[in-house]
Amino acid sequence: MPKDFDDMEDSNRSSNPSIHDVSDPKRRIVLRGGIGLAAAAWFGSLAGCAATPPPAAAPRLGFKGIAASTADAVVVPEGYTAAVLAPWGDPVGIAGRMPAWASDASNSAAEQALQMGMHHDGLQFYALEGSRRGLLVSNHEYTDDGLLHPGGMQPWTPEKVAKSQAAHGVSVVEIVLNEGRWQLVRPSPYARRFTAHTPFAVGGPAAGHALMKTAADPAGRLVLGTIANCASGTTPWGTYLSGEENWANYFIPADTPTAHERRWGIRKNTWYRWNEHDARFDTVRHPNEAHRFGWVVEIDPMDPASTPVKRTALGRAAHEGATVAVTRDGRAVVYSGEDARFEYIYKFVSRDRIRPAGGGLSAAQANAGLLDHGTLYVARFDADGSGRWLPLVHGQGPLTADRGFADQGEVVIKARQASDALGATKMDRPEWVAIDPLAGWVYCALTNNSSRGSGNNPGPDAANPRANNTMGHIVRWQEDGDFSAERFQWHHFVLAGDPANERPEAKGKVQGDAFACPDTLAFDARGVLWIGTDIGPTALNRGEMAHLGNNQLLACDPVSGEVRRFLAGPVNCEVTGCSFTPDGATMFVNIQHPGESPRDRSDAAAPRRYSNWPDFLPDGRPRSATVAVRRTDGGVIGT
Ligand code: FEO
Ligand code: CA
Ligand code: CA
Repeated sequence: MPKDFDDMEDSNRSSNPSIHDVSDPKRRIVLRGGIGLAAAAWFGSLAGCAATPPPAAAPRLGFKGIAASTADAVVVPEGYTAAVLAPWGDPVGIAGRMPAWASDASNSAAEQALQMGMHHDGLQFYALEGSRRGLLVSNHEYTDDGLLHPGGMQPWTPEKVAKSQAAHGVSVVEIVLNEGRWQLVRPSPYARRFTAHTPFAVGGPAAGHALMKTAADPAGRLVLGTIANCASGTTPWGTYLSGEENWANYFIPADTPTAHERRWGIRKNTWYRWNEHDARFDTVRHPNEAHRFGWVVEIDPMDPASTPVKRTALGRAAHEGATVAVTRDGRAVVYSGEDARFEYIYKFVSRDRIRPAGGGLSAAQANAGLLDHGTLYVARFDADGSGRWLPLVHGQGPLTADRGFADQGEVVIKARQASDALGATKMDRPEWVAIDPLAGWVYCALTNNSSRGSGNNPGPDAANPRANNTMGHIVRWQEDGDFSAERFQWHHFVLAGDPANERPEAKGKVQGDAFACPDTLAFDARGVLWIGTDIGPTALNRGEMAHLGNNQLLACDPVSGEVRRFLAGPVNCEVTGCSFTPDGATMFVNIQHPGESPRDRSDAAAPRRYSNWPDFLPDGRPRSATVAVRRTDGGVIGT
């Protein structure tokens, strides 16, 4: 997440009634250490539910926590190592096409399209040979165009636009564990890059819709590229899901944007300048192009010849990511937060059951259309601790033609407006969603919202209880029944923040090591919740994070509530993405935008004032990269 993000997404001006206005938010704040009774009641009422087995014994956090760090280094506990893998610019390993990284950033656009993209975000490991060989799939969320080109952004040229577009998207690399150290396998038949130009098919109700048709694609069924890929998920059938998050920043409208564009945050004051050399991103000339972004995309990493697909049944949003659960009868459920102020949390339930591989089809092929049919819902968090999943179904309630929704395609393309009409709860920037594999709780990180309660913005409500919420919180819920339920029970898991903060609404209520701005959430197989942080500029500017150090990854025992700092990243980075090998002995984590300068994105030198991790060359450029974390004795991470 770029540090100037706080100036961006703030476009929900809907006046959907907030039933929380009369609630006492403090009543719903169930802090860690105080959840026992509520949790016991919910677990009891759900006993026997396949999605909610009784809680296991408390997982132990068996490592010695680290201190907050301000070093330009990745810091891990005693007995652990963190090795750099696949930094920005390294060739992914396509046979015969492996241009070497040029440390002065002089690689061309064509070369960049064969190399790791910039600003790694969500990632997932896919095993090829148990826990010693596999594929690592990473998102590349955005570019720092000052850093991407040898002389920065001036002059701005078509080649620089092309290189920026080539540095976006998703990468697939093959990796192998040799004598305790992970290395890229190059060349590899699996190595692949998806960029802002890769063809994506369109699946679901928006495929072929009039609002999806463009001059270059009159059928509205084939989109060039994926951009702004933020968090990731994996499906039981072995595919990779990636959320297109801040895509609105790339589209430049007329001086006066339409009301529809304003609702989606499309505006003139954005740092991206692709429109100057690629008319696709000029909404005056190509008004429908923006409708083709904001989707969850599905990629089959095991089939290098497969066509990736935009799954429109999951709704259009500033999708953070996509997290999959399975109902008792074998249907897929996908949760996704929309990371923007006052936006929503969605859930999709597939119509059909997940099919096994067979008949010559891989599991991915057998489920190729599974996410194209089903029901999309948006969350409403009620003040009494219950919640409702409101169906985004054309023809139901206000989602009718006379209210501006001609069909289901228009409902999913205008999912924000549909959610406004249904009265969904406006959240504090929902980021990653993670599901406790032992207890069935669904967790969502609400990273921060410094605008809550200011100006004409909504004030605190039950689910988002703090005005000027610079620190963020984590909410969790249990579905009433299984993951397909239309009702749930929720509470706050933790209010993040610096205990030294003198502003009451920013003071954290964390049991253990304090943190702020939760973003990444991931459970390991033992049921430990891993929390990655993305401290934002508002809090930084206020000097509120002085005690917390660089962005970090923490382990949390969801039963006892203890939080322990595990990894700290380099200066001005974000720690994001977290995935494990099946044996739990390697954790892959992405380090995004080390050295990022909050102020000057056009200046090639700016980030280098803060960091030159991981190469530490005298005039080196900081590079986003994956780190592979292992114990020196080869044991399970965190035990
Ligand atoms: Fe891309 Fe919401 O972080
Ligand atoms: Ca973030
Ligand atoms: Ca994120």
